[in-house]
Amino acid sequence: MYQIEKAVKLADKIYLMVVKAPRVAASCEPGEFVIVRMGEEGERIPFTICDYDREAGTVTVVFQTVGASTEKMSALKAGDCFHDFVGPLGNPSEFVKEDPGALRGRRYLFVAGGVGTAPVYPQVKWLKEHGVQADVIIGAKTKDLLILTEEMKEAAGTLYIATDDGSAGYHGMVTGLIEDLVVRQGKHYDVCVAIGPMIMMKFVCLLTKKLALPTIVSLNPIMVDGTGMCGACRVTVGDQVKFACVDGPEFDGHLVHFDEAMKRQQIYKTQEGRAMLRLKEGATHHGGCGHCGGDE
Ligand code: NAD
Ligand code: FES
Repeated sequence: MYQIEKAVKLADKIYLMVVKAPRVAASCEPGEFVIVRMGEEGERIPFTICDYDREAGTVTVVFQTVGASTEKMSALKAGDCFHDFVGPLGNPSEFVKEDPGALRGRRYLFVAGGVGTAPVYPQVKWLKEHGVQADVIIGAKTKDLLILTEEMKEAAGTLYIATDDGSAGYHGMVTGLIEDLVVRQGKHYDVCVAIGPMIMMKFVCLLTKKLALPTIVSLNPIMVDGTGMCGACRVTVGDQVKFACVDGPEFDGHLVHFDEAMKRQQIYKTQEGRAMLRLKEGATHHGGCGHCGGDE
C-alpha cells in the first residue's frame, strides 16, 4: 500500500497528491510516469510524475477529474492509500542522458498547457539543478486554472503566462505567445518541449515546424498495462508505429500523426468505437482513462 502524505486541490477539478513510494522516488526521472490503482479491482490510471523527493521517498502526481475513477480519487485524503503505485514507467526525457556541459549551450522553451504544466515542472527543475536555464510558457483557459506558477517561477529562466480569456498575462493561446516571443521579439530557442492537450501539441508543432524549431512532445494516449503488451497506446510517428508507454512518452513532435492519435482517443469514448477497436486489436481498454466505461 502507498500512503498519501498530502492531498490538495490546486484548481477546479485539478488535484495534487504527494505519495510515499520510496522505490519509485529512488529511481524516477523527469519525463517518466506511474500507473496507480485505488483498489485491487480498480482501474489502472497513468499519471506523469510532477515531482519527487528521493530523501523523503515521495512522488508527486497531479491529475484532473475526467471520469468516475479520477472523481473517486479526488476524494482521497492524507492518510489514505493507493493499492498500487507502479513505476517509473516510460523513458526519461532525452536531456537526462546528455552531458550537462552541452546542455548549458542550448536554449530551451517549454510550453505547458493546462494540466500539462505538471509534467513540465520536473524537467525545468532538473535543468535548473544542472545549470541550464529554460524559459517556460504556461497556458490556461483562465487565471483560476493556472497551476504551479510559483514553483515554475523558481525553476524557470523566465516564466510567461498566457490565458485564453486574457485574465492573466498574454491574451490568447500559447501559440500566439510563441509567435510573439520568436517572431516579434526575436528570441532564439534551440529546442521547444510542448506538453498539454493533444490539440495544443498539434498546433504548437505546426507553428514550430514553420519556425524551424525542433520540438519534443509528451503523449498521453489511452494506456492500459503501460508495459508494451496491450497495444492500447499505439501512435504513428513518422512512418513507424510506436507504443507511447515503452517507446515514449516523448517523441519528435514534427513526426507525430496527431490527427490519428486524437481520432483514437475519440473512438475510445463511444461503445461502438471500443467494440470496433476490440474487433481489430483485441480487448485493450478497461476504462482506466476515466473517459468511458472500458471495453465491457
Ligand atoms: P486546456 O484545454 O485548458 O488547454 C491549455 C492551453 O492549451 C490553452 O490555454 C491554450 O493556450 C492551449 N491550447 C488549447 N487548444 C489549443 C489550440 N487549438 N491551439 C493552440 N493552443 C491551444 O487544457 P486542460 O483542460 O488542462 O487540458 C487537459 C488535457 O491535457 C487533457 O486532455 C489531458 O489528457 C492532457 N494532458 C496531457 C498531458 C501530457 O503528458 N501530454 C499531461 C497532463 C494532461
Ligand atoms: Fe502501451 Fe499497453 S499501454 S502497450
